[in-house]
Amino acid sequence: MVVDFTALRPREAYSWMISTILPRPVAWVSTISAEGRTNLAPFSFFQGITANPPTLMFVPVNTRDGTKKDTVRNIEAVPEFVVNLVSFALAEPMNQTAAGLPYGESEFEAFGIAAAPSETVRPPRVAAAPVAFECTLDRILALGEGPLAANVIFGRIQRAHIADAVLGADGRPDPGLLDLIGRLGGDAYARTTERFEMERP
Ligand SMILES: Cc1cc2nc3c(=O)[nH]c(=O)nc-3n(C[C@H](O)[C@H](O)[C@H](O)COP(=O)(O)O)c2cc1C
Repeated sequence: MVVDFTALRPREAYSWMISTILPRPVAWVSTISAEGRTNLAPFSFFQGITANPPTLMFVPVNTRDGTKKDTVRNIEAVPEFVVNLVSFALAEPMNQTAAGLPYGESEFEAFGIAAAPSETVRPPRVAAAPVAFECTLDRILALGEGPLAANVIFGRIQRAHIADAVLGADGRPDPGLLDLIGRLGGDAYARTTERFEMERP
C-alpha cells in the first residue's frame, strides 16, 4: 500500500508514523517550573543527534487543543532538563507519568518516584534511572501550528549519571545490563534482550 501523507489529518499521520518508525527510545524528561515544582513525562520522539557539541533532542507536540505541554512550559521558564533513560524495571512508573496532571502537580510526588539531585541543572533526575543526562537548553524549534505541532527541544548534554550496575567488564554500559525499552506503535513496547552483532565493512 501507499500512504499519501499530504492528504492525512495530523492525527492519522501521527498514527502511521508511530506504527512504522520503531522501536523508539524513550526520554523520561524531568523539568522544573519557575515556582520550583517538578514535572516528569515520557517522550519517544527522541534521539541523540551530534557529539560536537554533545546534543540530544526530543519533541513534545502540542496537546489536542493546541496548547503546550507542561514540559515545554517549564523549559521555557527554566531552560534546563534531565533526560532519564527507561529500563524494563521502570516501564510501569514511566507509563504512569504520561497522565495529564494539572500544571504544577509533580509526577514525582503523585506516583512516588524517587528523585535524586542533579549537579549542574535545577530539575532533579530519576534516582533509579540507569542513565540520566543533565542538559541545558540549546534551542526550541517550533514546527507547525496548532494541535500536534512540534516543539523540538535541543539539549546540550552537561553530565551523564550512569549507574555502576550497568557497566560491563570494559567499563562501558552493557546493553544487557541497561535493559532499556523501546516504544512500538499503540501500547506496545520492545525489550533489548535479543541482540546481534555485525562487523562494519
Ligand atoms: C512511551 C511514551 C512516549 C511518548 N512520547 C511522546 C512524544 O514523543 N511526544 C509527545 O508530545 N508526547 C508523548 N507522549 C505523551 C506524553 O508523555 C504526555 O502527553 C504527557 O502528559 C506530557 O506531560 P507534560 O504535560 O507534563 O509535559 C508519550 C507517552 C508515552 C507513554
